[in-house]
Amino acid sequence: MTTIETVLHETRVFPPPEEFTKQANISGMQAYQALCAEAEKDYLKFWANRATEQILWHKPFTQILDDQTPPFYRWFGDGELNVSYNCLDRHLATQADKVAIIFEADDGTVIRSTYRDLHQNVCRFANALKSLKIKKGDRIIIYLPMGIEAVVAMQACARIGAIHSVVFGGFSSKSLHERIVDAGAVAVITADEQIRGGKYHSLKETVDEALHTEDTASVKCVVVYQRTGTAVPFDTSRDVWWHEIIEAASTDCEPEWVNAEHPLFTLYTSGSTGKPKGVQHSSAGYLLGTKLSMEWIFDYKPDDIFWCTADVGWITGHSYVCYGPLAMGATQVIFEGIPTYPHAGRFWEIIQKHRVTTFYTAPTAIRSLIKLGSDLPTQYDLSSLRLLGSVGEPINPEAWIWFYQKVGQARCPVVDTWWQTETGCHMIAPVPGAIALKPGSCTFPLPGIFAAIVDEAGHDVEKGKGGFLVIKKPFPSQIRTLWGDPERFKKTYFPEDIGHGLYYLAGDSAYRDMDDYFWIMGRIDDVLNVSGHRLGTMEIESALVAHPLVAEAAVVGKPHEVKGEAVIAFVVLKGRYPQAGETADIVHTLREWVAKEIGPIAKPEEIRFGENLPKTRSGKIMRRLLRALAKGEEITQDTSTLENPAILEQLKKPAQSF
Ligand code: PRX
Repeated sequence: MTTIETVLHETRVFPPPEEFTKQANISGMQAYQALCAEAEKDYLKFWANRATEQILWHKPFTQILDDQTPPFYRWFGDGELNVSYNCLDRHLATQADKVAIIFEADDGTVIRSTYRDLHQNVCRFANALKSLKIKKGDRIIIYLPMGIEAVVAMQACARIGAIHSVVFGGFSSKSLHERIVDAGAVAVITADEQIRGGKYHSLKETVDEALHTEDTASVKCVVVYQRTGTAVPFDTSRDVWWHEIIEAASTDCEPEWVNAEHPLFTLYTSGSTGKPKGVQHSSAGYLLGTKLSMEWIFDYKPDDIFWCTADVGWITGHSYVCYGPLAMGATQVIFEGIPTYPHAGRFWEIIQKHRVTTFYTAPTAIRSLIKLGSDLPTQYDLSSLRLLGSVGEPINPEAWIWFYQKVGQARCPVVDTWWQTETGCHMIAPVPGAIALKPGSCTFPLPGIFAAIVDEAGHDVEKGKGGFLVIKKPFPSQIRTLWGDPERFKKTYFPEDIGHGLYYLAGDSAYRDMDDYFWIMGRIDDVLNVSGHRLGTMEIESALVAHPLVAEAAVVGKPHEVKGEAVIAFVVLKGRYPQAGETADIVHTLREWVAKEIGPIAKPEEIRFGENLPKTRSGKIMRRLLRALAKGEEITQDTSTLENPAILEQLKKPAQSF
């Protein structure tokens, strides 16, 4: 909990600009407090009112919250709706010709899709899925590049009540395989290739590799979208082309009306054990959360041009690309490429070109953009911007200030939004027309979110003291269960010892300052946050140990200037210590191996070799020591309980770092 010290020094405060407050959806502190008071006074009525205002119900709900079997909560449990209907059909009468998506391809080509176009494409694809015998409740894996088709595929699943599970295009065939098997998927939707930064990467081949074993027999078909047209292997008994199956499909598709609690999707995320968790979300509660946060935190206005840079493979791309903006009827930018191609000003160029008003990105992107050219944004016309947002990891105050000054020209509030795959939408974030900002703090919970910081026994801690971040009352957008593993769900998120199994345990540590602002300090479990992506140390360790050369491995995080955290692996090879001349080769081999096993994002930044790992006499690896070694710190802790103190010397130096 040492980070408390560093952030406590941050004293700069940025009140909301008057002009912004005047036009804001929640205008001023009083308006924000009134909403919070409403939620406190009658929590259930507060959520029932929001759900009635925000959602078009096919069958209105009469029950608000069923909390009979915590933590398996049901919200609006007898209501019926369709999420895709709420994102598309609802706009047809009022704004069918409004652009829903401005797609900017890697090579700069721009395609605009109106709400009418999107509705038609979703209906056609939904009918095509039905013609493949895909039905309500079936699980569909989506492994697609960023683009309109990814949104169409997700929305089409929602339309027919199929449960999508999007796998980030950077994950390896092994990770994909694991998710396909866990979900028991009946179909995979993919593309021939994806294009990023001028380079083509195969997706279809990865899918083929993921499907080569018998445990994937549940998969009856693979739908392939032709992105590049490069020839790919095609098994006509299983594979179909996207463009062929939509040919005969009608543009009318009656939505499947589902129960409010029907799973909209599962999304796999890393936990503290080796196996990724399939986070399962509901339909109504999730939709409500994404809509409200668009309105409250992004202060959504009908003439906004919204741009969230996250890939649809992550929760941010679900909530603030596929669902939230469309539910609001927004115009949004979707970008296929990377910030540095073909030049370092690509993001700024896109903002200028499409007159983006709301720009939402990750601290890791902000830090790398600073490195690419701290003054670059000033060479572009960014006058359209009115709001900036950050997500995924703590934003260091200096990056915040740069973002605020150089990108927002000291005019745009920066909303630092704390939330998680499991929460579905923003939980703690500044309402921009009301709350004075402090760089590095995500400020206050959204109205209706009862966040608190507690100790091991579940008691509130004093201001200024670090503790576990919890949410004390259920909220509509929260995770419903882990796919196929309700016990793990209960144990991980609602532990008995903290709050008697009734508090949602986020897995982060945090503290509140003297003004009650929340400051997130980091994970409390063995989960790393590398460039805003969650990676379980156990996952990487299991991958390393699976290599024939490796006997044992321990993975820790180390602070990194751009990525936030970097992966450092301590490795014991089978039967030997590597010779001077061979370390580079072994390091290369192991890094590539991890990329193949999990995906390139999990590649260790550094690998250190030892004849053993520092262990207690009972055989437990002392990770605290490894973390200190990774940071290059002197070991000041007591090492007398170590079985093998001499090993620390060996592990001090990286074999090779990247
Ligand atoms: O540690 C917190 C960090 O990211 C974790 C959630 O990761 P994931 O489920 O992948 O979702 C990322 C996008 C919502 C959290 O437990 N985190 C996320 N946002 C912030 C953050 N840490 C500090 N400040 C944030 N704004």
